[in-house]
Amino acid sequence: MLPLNDLTDIEQSYRFHAGEMSTSPCFHAWASGVADDPEVLGVLRELPIGKQQANLVFAAARWHGLEPGPYEALRELLLGPEWPAVRETILARRTQTNEVARLTALTPALATLGDEQLALVELGASAGLCLYPDRYDYVWEGAGAMSGSGGPTLRTTAAGDVPIPAQAPRITARVGVDLNPLDVTDEDDVAWLLTLIWPGHDERRDRLAAAIEVTRAEPPRLLAGDMVDQLDNALAIAAASGGTPVVHHSAAAAYLDEHDRLRLEERMRTLVAAGRCHWISLEGQRVIPSLAATAPSAPKADHQLCLAVDGQAVGWVQGHGVSLTWI
Ligand SMILES: C[S@@+](CC[C@H](N)C(=O)[O-])C[C@H]1O[C@@H](n2cnc3c(N)ncnc32)[C@H](O)[C@@H]1O
Repeated sequence: MLPLNDLTDIEQSYRFHAGEMSTSPCFHAWASGVADDPEVLGVLRELPIGKQQANLVFAAARWHGLEPGPYEALRELLLGPEWPAVRETILARRTQTNEVARLTALTPALATLGDEQLALVELGASAGLCLYPDRYDYVWEGAGAMSGSGGPTLRTTAAGDVPIPAQAPRITARVGVDLNPLDVTDEDDVAWLLTLIWPGHDERRDRLAAAIEVTRAEPPRLLAGDMVDQLDNALAIAAASGGTPVVHHSAAAAYLDEHDRLRLEERMRTLVAAGRCHWISLEGQRVIPSLAATAPSAPKADHQLCLAVDGQAVGWVQGHGVSLTWI
């Protein structure tokens, strides 16, 4: 995942997304089609930079009834009379894909912190589905497993010396911050979350539906606002629960501009140095470059997210959590 506000070359951005979307033949074809189509690129270039993202444009097209299929139908929609309505949806909504498979990376990262009780704060939490690492069983294929949660099973392929937890983390608080928190009890919010799943990713739809049930059973505390502005409030709520605060963010800092990414990084480094919390980051390699730079070498695929604990890279993770390589 690239920092979205840095994507000044929209054609290059869609080519990058075409690579990132290789697991969804439809979206791969759509992103490649857009990248090769100067007329469509011209229309999308009129959107604010943060709204030009393929994920958001394609989800909005599907929200307006476009079925997965050949690129030509997307082209007709974006150049046709329905474009103003699709554009409104793009401007009104956000990419808020909430992917609990990323917990297959977060949970071993939490295991590196010892066996203290943990108070979770998630920045860019969407509906807060990733605040429940203790409610799932896990299979790290090639490395180990953890069971006994009574919840759904999350799977990933794993390489390297993954620190398999002996037991589920003990969580005292689940606090999320989002510019637009989604509510798992709201039909429209749930429909948008489902629309954000790429065509062909049926397993992810099933996983999302199961995760929504897990979250509905004990909804998290979600604060509306900017992740840096609300960080202290969220930390105060978490710390009051008695657990050791852990701030985590996954596929979320990419939505900040460079200035705010630096603000976030500085704030987190200061908090960690002061012993006020731990910090787990799961972001694109170029989002907080100083984190990826602590790894001995970069992974072959540019699309791998960097998993870092307290400023140190510990793993590489496929964007939706389907693979984990521990460093
Ligand atoms: C792609 S989703 C990731 C959700 C979740 N972290 C996960 O991994 O499943 C990114 C989320 O970040 C939120 N976001 C973007 N910019 C933000 C900001 N400045 N402050 C708080 N949340 C923000 C979006 O609204 C969205 O819900």
